[in-house]
Amino acid sequence: MNKWAVRTADAAGAPYVLFPSMGEYPAYDDRVYDAFDAADDRHRAYRTAVRAAAPGKVMVDIGTGRDALWAVEAAHAGARHVYAIEADPATADRAAEAVIAAGLDDRVTVLPGRSSETILPERAEVCVSEIVGNIASAEGAIAVLDDARNRLCTPDCVWIPFRIQTWAAAVDLTGADLAVAAESLPYLHRVFEATGAPFDLRLCLGGPADDAIISSAVPIESIVFDADRPPPAHDERRTAELRIGSLARMSGILLWTRVATEVRGGREVDALAGGTRAWAPIYAPFPEPVPVTPGDHLPLTFTRHTSDDGIHPDYELTVGDLPPWQSPHHNGPFRATPFYRRLFST
Ligand SMILES: C[S@@+](CC[C@H](N)C(=O)[O-])C[C@H]1O[C@@H](n2cnc3c(N)ncnc32)[C@H](O)[C@@H]1O
Repeated sequence: MNKWAVRTADAAGAPYVLFPSMGEYPAYDDRVYDAFDAADDRHRAYRTAVRAAAPGKVMVDIGTGRDALWAVEAAHAGARHVYAIEADPATADRAAEAVIAAGLDDRVTVLPGRSSETILPERAEVCVSEIVGNIASAEGAIAVLDDARNRLCTPDCVWIPFRIQTWAAAVDLTGADLAVAAESLPYLHRVFEATGAPFDLRLCLGGPADDAIISSAVPIESIVFDADRPPPAHDERRTAELRIGSLARMSGILLWTRVATEVRGGREVDALAGGTRAWAPIYAPFPEPVPVTPGDHLPLTFTRHTSDDGIHPDYELTVGDLPPWQSPHHNGPFRATPFYRRLFST
């Protein structure tokens, strides 16, 4: 791997910091799984949906994680049987221990491996998964759940989550001296190890992201998992328009996730609202800030294209006639723009 160095900041001392978007890579550790255990907005929304759907049902939990959270919850709520699939072998072992500790190993079967390589002894009537990224589709939910729909689930399967979205708004972060949070460096290294080389990876924004927004917010992905509708398209191009609300220098676009776990009446989790640490907004910087005035309308085009691994999408975002923000899942260029050249040196 090339020699490189990264500009870092102490997260406690800086108003805004950057950190890698890592959910779409095999980079999870105890610290990350601890965050998933927090009784936050994400947790409440999933728990409510799982409790409502589970009684008497055969379920599959795709990506059960270290603590088999939703499989255990489902079994407690009366699921007939839960098949809990986990891609990472060591994490699957820990999940099996969690199931035994909960006294539920007669009703929860932990299956190590990727869901796409797993065969179930019976089809599931409820599918729960939390493979939702900081850009909603980034962890491969469309391809993974499409495969589950075809091979692992009944035709009338209930899907949790029901809808995942990505929203976008323009931001002015020209006053922020952005650098990567020092505490997140281990994840940066793990992402580059997973992809085989350093590249201009997606970066999340830590800090009061709301305060930096200077435009209206628009959905750029709205992905629905529902037995009565066709499966979501793997590749998509969507256009929208941002309306500028303040005199500012637009430095980039913020992208964030909203998750509806249930079809009706359920809680919708908004990553920007700060009620969970499981997701964070992505910062898509422009090469140079652009002056904008209130009332400006900016056309935006967002493209999702499945990468050559068949699961994780590559993205492209274009605003007006500015150069596009290109965000491949892997195999991308390194230090291709002034923003990344300022962060990374070689
Ligand atoms: C964001 S974590 C969620 C863990 C837990 N379900 C929760 O909600 O707290 C996603 C987990 O899914 C696993 N995973 C991702 N894609 C998978 C797939 N296709 N098959 C099995 N596991 C997968 C990852 O290894 C990771 O443990």
